[in-house]
Parts: sequence; C-alpha cells; structure tokens
Amino acid sequence: MLQGRRIILGVSGGIAAYKAIEVCRRLVDLGAHVTPILTDAAHNMVGPTTFTALASEPVKTSLWHDSDPIPHTRMGQNADAIVVCPATARIISDLRTGRSADLLSATLIATAAPVVVCPAMHTEMWEHPAVAENIEVLADRGVIIVPPEEGRLAGGDIGKGRLAEVATVVDAVVALFADGPLGGRTVLISAGGTREPIDPVRFLGNRSSGKQGHALAEVAAAMGAEVTLVTTAGLASSSTITRIDVETAAEMHEAVAGRARAADVVIMAAAVADFRPVGASTQKIKKANGPPTVTLEQTVDILGELGAGKPDGQVLVGFAAETENLRDNALGKLKRKGADLLVANDVSAPGVGFAHDTNAVTIFGADGSVREVSMNDKTAIAMAVLDAAVERLPDIESKNQ
Ligand code: CTP
Repeated sequence: MLQGRRIILGVSGGIAAYKAIEVCRRLVDLGAHVTPILTDAAHNMVGPTTFTALASEPVKTSLWHDSDPIPHTRMGQNADAIVVCPATARIISDLRTGRSADLLSATLIATAAPVVVCPAMHTEMWEHPAVAENIEVLADRGVIIVPPEEGRLAGGDIGKGRLAEVATVVDAVVALFADGPLGGRTVLISAGGTREPIDPVRFLGNRSSGKQGHALAEVAAAMGAEVTLVTTAGLASSSTITRIDVETAAEMHEAVAGRARAADVVIMAAAVADFRPVGASTQKIKKANGPPTVTLEQTVDILGELGAGKPDGQVLVGFAAETENLRDNALGKLKRKGADLLVANDVSAPGVGFAHDTNAVTIFGADGSVREVSMNDKTAIAMAVLDAAVERLPDIESKNQ
C-alpha cells in the first residue's frame, strides 16, 4: 500500500516513543522506505538500535555528524511524507514557528511533502492555549493532525493526551496517498467462506481463508475508495474500511443486498455456500442417536441476484474457484450471473487459492477480454482486479449528473 513511498518517521522525546517502533515496522511492512529521525530527547526514551534494525535506513540524529553536510534539505526534499510520532509540545511549537533547532525540526521546514503530526503529552499540556493554538495554526496550514486519545498517561494519570493507536497513525499515512483512481467511489466487497450451521457446534463450511477478499478491500481503500467489507474471516482490516462481520450465506445476502445499489463496484470474492441444512438443530446432535440425515436447501445466489438488478454504471465482479475446465466454467458463470468481470482461479494448482498468500488468476470480461495474472501475492492480484474494474467505470462526472 505504501510501496516505494519514502517516509521520514520523526520521533521526539515523549514516553510514547516506544509506540513509534511499531509504527515504523508497520510502515515498512506496507512497503514504505522509512528513515527514522530521533531527537536528542527521544534517545532518552528508546534506543536507536531498534529503529535502525526495523527501518529501511539507520537512524539519523544530527545536523552535523553525518557524512552529508546538508542532511535536512536532502531528506526534506526527497521525502514523500514526514510523520512526527510522537510529537511533543516542543516539536509542535518549532514546526509552527519555523525554528530549526535540530535535524527533525530543520527537515520539517525543508520539505514540501505532507506532514502528519501525532501529538502525545499530558492533558494539561495538550489543553494549554499555546499548544492548542499551535495545533490550530498547523491544521490550517494543511498539516494532518492525528489527535491524541483519552486514556492512561505516563505516571498513571488518566485524560486526553495519549498517543493515537498505532493503526490510526498508519491509516493516516496510508490516507495521504489514497487520492487514487477510486477516489470518490464506493466499493462493496465480500470475503471469506460462509458457515452454515447443522447444530450449535457443527457447520458446513469451505476452505476459503478470506485473504484475497481482504487484500481487495485494503487495495481499494488505498486507491481512494470508500470501502465496505462484508466478511466471515477473522482477519484484520484497516480502520478506514467499514466492516460487517457475518457468518452464514443468509447474513451475507442481507448485508450485501442492502448496500449493493449504492456501490460503484461490487466484488463477490466470498465463497458462499450453495446449500444449507434445513432448520439447524437448536441442540447438539448426539452420537447415540446414530448418523443424522441432514437435508439441504439452496441458498440465494447473491451474485446472480445482483447481476439481475445491476444499476447502470456499476461494475460487478464475481470470483470462481475451479478444479477443471476453468475457461468454460468461468465464462458460463460470467454470463449466467450477469457480472462484468469474473476472476477465475484453478485451486488445484500449487500455491493458488485457498489459504495461500499467493494466487494466479484469469480475469474474464463480459466484453470478451481475457487477462492472465500470473502467480503473485494476493495484494498484486487485488491490484489487477481493481485496475480492470476501474477501466470499466464510467467517468465520475457522469456519475454525479
Ligand atoms: N456466489 C454467490 N452466492 C452463492 C454462491 C456463489 O454470490 N450462493 C458468488 C460467489 O461469491 C462468486 C461466484 O458466485 O463470486 C461464483 O461462485 P461459485 O460457487 O464458483 O459459483 P456457483 O454458481 O455456485 O457454481 P458451482 O456449481 O461451481 O459451485
């Protein structure tokens, strides 16, 4: 999501500096090239070795001792974003006044890149008129402020001033680059395999992990979309994604059907059960009674229903996990279900489909197009699927008319 983005992580001397280690790790995990700058005071809170080990470059600390005679201008000019986490009252004041007191403050005023400031301090300091005014001025200048939260502070006090959650900080950075090809669009995605209860402890399920659907949701959000994810999978999702957890095909149907009309893109990546037991037993079925007969009934074909009532301009995407006759089965489903795109994978191939982190798919278009996406991680597959959807969306201007 942050592939190739050069991000400076400025760490100033608050107790919350230890949380910046996790922010560093997550930004790197998302593909960013992270250069940490620690202030002198930050060295009293955390060790630079940890940052150096986790970041993409060793920690920078001084205007004077590195081999580069003008590190602040080089770093400021090259950065795609600077994140100050945690930001103390001092660094906030320096940024407001343009005082270049050390490497971090000098770099902050030598950049034209977006700046994210994540304040963390005691409640009294956060509420002091000087700090409040500095924050207001910075926000007016376009600095992204990730406000502190209520909670337990250093020393045991409780109040506002605790650094925002790591995920919130990371989401704010991801959002900087989210003004992408899906900006202003809504995307609805289903993910995971449904579970159809037989009794309170048993269910009919399938091998879908939900990883591909979740990757689609993350990439769609990074491309600027407002994303709703209807999922059965216990996987994490970014806080910018609206998430609805469901279990059965009927719950998924209800969650998706009510939201689909308003969506620009609907992607049914979920493995929805085709059949469910008629009237699940309310009590556990006991072995002593012998093998039960489980009668099945058909579930609603959600994709088929969406295809039949598809609003103008919407791009509808289905998935098909096949073990044979991939092309014929996929093309049959594409037509039968009224989808615009059908993403098919041969789940019998090594490294493909369920539970793997990789996938290889063929994207069939209702317009006759066929695109092979060779073995890659599920994020790359998601990008290819969403690119194909973006190509088929009508211009945003015609949508707003
Ligand atoms: N799908 C759905 N509702 C169902 C079953 C499937 O919306 N009750 C969607 C899936 O989310 C997927 C697509 O339909 O996007 C294809 O699912 P698949 O199970 O491969 O299709 P089926 O029509 O059930 O065909 P098969 O006989 O191969 O199971």
